[in-house]
Amino acid sequence: MGPEKDNWWVYMLRCQDGTLYTGATCDIPRRLAAHNSGKGAKYTRGRRPVELVYTQACGTHSQALRREAAVKKLTRPQKWELVREQAGLRYELAPMEGITGLVFRQMHHRYFGGVDRYFTPFLSPGQNGTFNKKELAQVRPEDNQGMEVVPQLLTRRAEDFIWAARELEQMGYRQVNLNLGCPSGTVTAKGKGAGFLADPEGLDRFLDQIFGALEIPISIKTRLGMDSPEEFPRLLDIFQQYPVAELILHPRVRADFYRHPVRMEAFAQAAARCTLPLSYNGNLITAQDCHRLASQYPQVQALMIGRGLIANPALARQAKGGPPASRQELRLFHDGLYEGYSQAFRSRKNAICRMKDVWRCLLCLFEGTEKQAKQLRKAVEPADYEAQVAAIFRDLPLREQTVPDWC
Ligand SMILES: Cc1cc2nc3c(=O)[nH]c(=O)nc-3n(C[C@H](O)[C@H](O)[C@H](O)COP(=O)(O)O)c2cc1C
Repeated sequence: MGPEKDNWWVYMLRCQDGTLYTGATCDIPRRLAAHNSGKGAKYTRGRRPVELVYTQACGTHSQALRREAAVKKLTRPQKWELVREQAGLRYELAPMEGITGLVFRQMHHRYFGGVDRYFTPFLSPGQNGTFNKKELAQVRPEDNQGMEVVPQLLTRRAEDFIWAARELEQMGYRQVNLNLGCPSGTVTAKGKGAGFLADPEGLDRFLDQIFGALEIPISIKTRLGMDSPEEFPRLLDIFQQYPVAELILHPRVRADFYRHPVRMEAFAQAAARCTLPLSYNGNLITAQDCHRLASQYPQVQALMIGRGLIANPALARQAKGGPPASRQELRLFHDGLYEGYSQAFRSRKNAICRMKDVWRCLLCLFEGTEKQAKQLRKAVEPADYEAQVAAIFRDLPLREQTVPDWC
């Protein structure tokens, strides 16, 4: 027997049912193709397609076999830690109805970047196989070029979800997201959004139908429950029966809306039990917040940020080691948004209303904003609004990080 070759690898595959398969090989592309053609292993044959999520060079065959055995002994959260270590942490822009739509996404991507995935605010597919015109305008592929965009759907009817997901898949989207977090009374009263969490059996049937019918990966954005975090263990058991592409947990219950402190103890318990790729969302304001969370939960694959990124559009870039937002960048970003909304609404006055929602967070990046905030709130006419904005950019000192007034 000749000397052992030293080009062996250990690899992990994410199977179609969400489980992880570990193997060893000296030819990763050939092995991956074999798994996907059903000839790789009995385990993966019935769980195709599989996706390569981890590779490690191991030297000789015997070294690779030892490492393979060690990886196989890890718990699922520990295996996800390895995947995160290799792929890096993703940063995602949270869906925020009325704020993080197409115009915001385009301008953010153009002037700041650092965001790996943009989630759209929820789309509500109608019962007769339709998106309304406004929603369709959010997801036209030609307007979303160059960004990884995940459309979010809000419904409790499996037929509508399946119809919408197929439409979106045909447009070229690679993932759709299910909203199980919206706390609004009109939504929860219909058993949608966070309201769906109060009906675990119905939710299970819904997930069974959509995961059974669709090939496009489905992620879920959820709260801990409707009324109490004690609801979550049962919900997690349900989620874990399905190949959820990403479970984004916002650790609040519906009754908390957006102000109650995030329930980190419940998040820790969920993270310890979660076997799905897990993401965190809630109250991330500074790059340090992001780093702290990421190091505390090494199995977390992504951080989703909402208000923190509106207030400081450079936050994801900063968290990845880039520079803070400059005054000039913020000015260009602002002007791009204002112009984009003016065109989209064909009205500067309507654009001003939308800009005020952005300023509610963005002003927290400036110092001494009390007087300007009041005047900005009062501005209705474009000339007045534009003068107030010019004064903010001219007079107010800029902070390197946000001082939020919402948490
Ligand atoms: C004005 C507003 C609109 C929102 N719209 C949505 C939405 O369409 N879909 C969704 O899943 N969450 C929505 N959210 C929740 C956010 O995605 C996020 O979970 C929440 O703001 C907490 O994260 P943050 O502390 O980083 O902002 C919304 C929140 C706000 C404040």
